[in-house]
Amino acid sequence: MMDIRHTDSQIVEDQDTWNELVIMGQEDQPHLAEQDAQDHKALVPTGTERRHLLVSFAVEEFEVPPSVCIEEMSLFPEWHLPLKLTGVLMALTFLYTFMRDVLQPFVSQGRSDFYKVPILVVNKTLPWTAISLLALVYLPGVLAGLLQLQRGTKYRPFPVWLERWMSMRKQLGLLAFFLAVLHSIYSLCYPMRRSYRYKLLNWAFQQVQRNQEDSWIADDVWRMEVYVSLGITGLGLLALLAITSLPSVTDTLNWREFVWMQRSLGYVALVVCTAHALVYGWRKWVEPKHFVWYTPPSFILASLLPATVLLIKAVLLLPCLNRRLEQIHRGWVRPCPLKERQVLGKDSLTDGAPKTL
Ligand SMILES: Cc1cc2nc3c(=O)[nH]c(=O)nc-3n(C[C@H](O)[C@H](O)[C@H](O)COP(=O)(O)OP(=O)(O)OC[C@H]3O[C@@H](n4cnc5c(N)ncnc54)[C@H](O)[C@@H]3O)c2cc1C
Ligand code: HEM
Repeated sequence: MMDIRHTDSQIVEDQDTWNELVIMGQEDQPHLAEQDAQDHKALVPTGTERRHLLVSFAVEEFEVPPSVCIEEMSLFPEWHLPLKLTGVLMALTFLYTFMRDVLQPFVSQGRSDFYKVPILVVNKTLPWTAISLLALVYLPGVLAGLLQLQRGTKYRPFPVWLERWMSMRKQLGLLAFFLAVLHSIYSLCYPMRRSYRYKLLNWAFQQVQRNQEDSWIADDVWRMEVYVSLGITGLGLLALLAITSLPSVTDTLNWREFVWMQRSLGYVALVVCTAHALVYGWRKWVEPKHFVWYTPPSFILASLLPATVLLIKAVLLLPCLNRRLEQIHRGWVRPCPLKERQVLGKDSLTDGAPKTL
């Protein structure tokens, strides 16, 4: 690839030198001019030849340079674990939803609801996984905070598993965003489905049979307006986070701006998305018909992890704990208790003696 690029630029240089030589030659030895012009034509590539060179350059762009050993290059190494985790979560949530929404009606009432699998079941799996991944982005941060409070210092390293978890938060966050986008598109397509149209017609017919003129239920209307609005806001916030993680955008922000965006907007996004799931659930918490085969509805399980993370964060934000955590971040170290200092002092004096009083 490099050779051809070199040759191409060399040709331009050669052409310039040649032009100079031709001019000089024509002045000094006019009898050579005609011959030189012919040679010049032969040396300098024509338009077609140049195009050919460019094409071969473009094709060779895709060739692996000899210095690269493909076997030694791993493919997206930092994405392996986040992708595996996403796969496991999706499989579990899919099985749970399939069991409740498809298997249960089939086994209990002989009703075939398998048509729900491609959209309705998938569209419960996607947001459940997305919100769980989002919670997993912010869980290590609060765990780290608790650990620092317990240790009374920031100078002791975190356990290896926590370090590893913290280092894959970007990937988890971007996967959460991707699944949330898919969930939004699936949700907005609900009214397009034929099954939805048939159901709507059936409901209208049943309403006529009941001689009911108005089917407006204010409670339900409010529920939907609010949860869809929260969903759109949550998605918008996640999109902002995803945009700031693009290297070209990250480079334009200073460290404080980046951390503020990721931390503050991230937590707001988690609050809004959790609220979206809870408002979607509304009163289903207390309606026994939603506890199919004694299992809770998926939105309850989906909200558990993010609600736990938000609860721990709220506790850490209590002024007494928040002040201490800020001190720790500024470098404060909790002084050792007197007894511990005595042990340390005695140990340093009595070298080799047992390390207990
Ligand atoms: C769509 C999306 C995209 C994302 N893109 C990125 C990305 O590009 N890059 C990225 O890094 N993350 C990214 N994330 C992940 C996420 O936003 C960040 O990990 C977020 O900053 C976590 O905030 P936190 O407060 O929980 O953790 P942190 O800010 O990492 O804090 C964790 C803990 O460390 C301790 N700590 C904090 N400050 C100090 C201090 N000064 N000294 C000592 N200890 C301290 C505290 O105990 C704190 O609880 C993305 C997330 C999403 C959803
Ligand atoms: C444009 C944005 C969004 C729209 C229109 C939307 C719409 C919906 C709809 C229609 C449902 C009900 C699904 C059903 O009945 O099967 C739902 C549920 C849910 N949504 Fe969203 N949503 C959006 C964004 C989000 C985001 C960003 C998240 C979080 C990552 C999220 C998480 C959830 C959860 C957890 C549920 C409950 C699913 C369950 O029953 O288990 N949504 N949303």
